[in-house]
Amino acid sequence: MARWLPLFLAALLSVIPTVLAQSLPLRSSSRWILDSNGARVKLRCVNWAGHMETNIPEGLDKQSIPFIADWIRDNGFNCVRLTYSVDHALSPSTLVSSSFTAAAAAASVPQSSMQTLYKNVLSHNPTIAGATTRDVFGSVVDNLWARGIMTILDNHVSKASWCCNLTDGNGWWDSAFGYNSINSRYFHTQDWLNGLQSMATWARAHPGVVAMSLRNELRAFLLQDLNGRRDWYNLIKQGGNLVHATNPDVLVVVGGVLGGTDLSHVRSKMLDTSGWAGKHVWEMHAYSYTVNFPDPLGSCEAVQAEYGAFSGFVLEQGKPFTGPLLLSEFGVGMTGGSQQGLNDKDSRYLQCLVDYMQNNDADWAVWALQGSYYVRDGVVDWDEGWGLLSHDWSGWRNGAFKGMLGNMWKVTQQP
Ligand SMILES: *[C@@H]1O[C@H](CO)[C@@H](O)[C@H](O)[C@H]1NC(C)=O
Repeated sequence: MARWLPLFLAALLSVIPTVLAQSLPLRSSSRWILDSNGARVKLRCVNWAGHMETNIPEGLDKQSIPFIADWIRDNGFNCVRLTYSVDHALSPSTLVSSSFTAAAAAASVPQSSMQTLYKNVLSHNPTIAGATTRDVFGSVVDNLWARGIMTILDNHVSKASWCCNLTDGNGWWDSAFGYNSINSRYFHTQDWLNGLQSMATWARAHPGVVAMSLRNELRAFLLQDLNGRRDWYNLIKQGGNLVHATNPDVLVVVGGVLGGTDLSHVRSKMLDTSGWAGKHVWEMHAYSYTVNFPDPLGSCEAVQAEYGAFSGFVLEQGKPFTGPLLLSEFGVGMTGGSQQGLNDKDSRYLQCLVDYMQNNDADWAVWALQGSYYVRDGVVDWDEGWGLLSHDWSGWRNGAFKGMLGNMWKVTQQP
């Protein structure tokens, strides 16, 4: 008995991911996300960037896809928010080798640097030789799902690049009222719709994709959005209808305006979500530098009231706007100072936000997994100080961080 017990345990362990995996598809009911058996699913996700110039998820020059997927599972996450650009969505057949070559010009760095990165990608992930960028997204999603980790596909930008400010040209639909090129030169409405359709179609063959968010951090500038948010109501509805008609299994995740922080308008005028009934999820972002969520130096209660007034109110049950709320971005610099590696402002912010999230037991996705970028802001192998992972993607950058999320890891409320 003692001799085969370890084998038995090994066999048992090998089936656990399947046992723990959710029964799909997911749906929404009131403020809850449920699996196909009606049991609550709380999304505890990490963001993994894939929206930049190389058009593949970051970090594959540091570790293999299975290694990274193991780390995500082993550290308690059940989900990844995987970002992509419309550029990628509309060019799924680009070879990774070509994409790295093109990224040199796109990111203004030497060709030789991109070729070194590409070689490192192949040494950790040999199967990427000859693969398309979409194949790599597929391998990431499928490796995650083999471990019971779900994926939310997030349309982060139109033009593959770092995001998000008011001059990067990815902020607001170009067909909307008050066009200005500063904020909208890359955000072509029809391309965005076509991109959503491409990803939604593709996701039908990748069951780990459980949700699609329509657009990251919508942000108007100058004269935009001065028409009663009419463009937001109209275009979000079009995007949601299209995703659901293309792929009825995925949840449709919708963020507000002001960089994904403000849903307050739906309190008095609900968005028409009837085209994706039973699949609707709201999202919000909150950082220590978010202008409408000030530093809780004086009063954490005041900041929590802001969270509630701008977005958290959607959790109130029995209202036209009631829905699950995914805090799809929050995070801190990991090497900032005295408070277990956080600076004082980040530490105050995080404690206050965690307290808020523990009380409402909402879904979340922390920014971010990546310990580095292939290239960002013209710097090759850019170190991401906000990364959960260290620069070489081998383990935690700040081992204390996981504990700082407290009961956010737990399910404390039930439908
Ligand atoms: C805004 O973002 C773009 C793209 O990342 C960058 O080139 C630009 O310098 C940024 N502008 C400011 C003011 O930070």
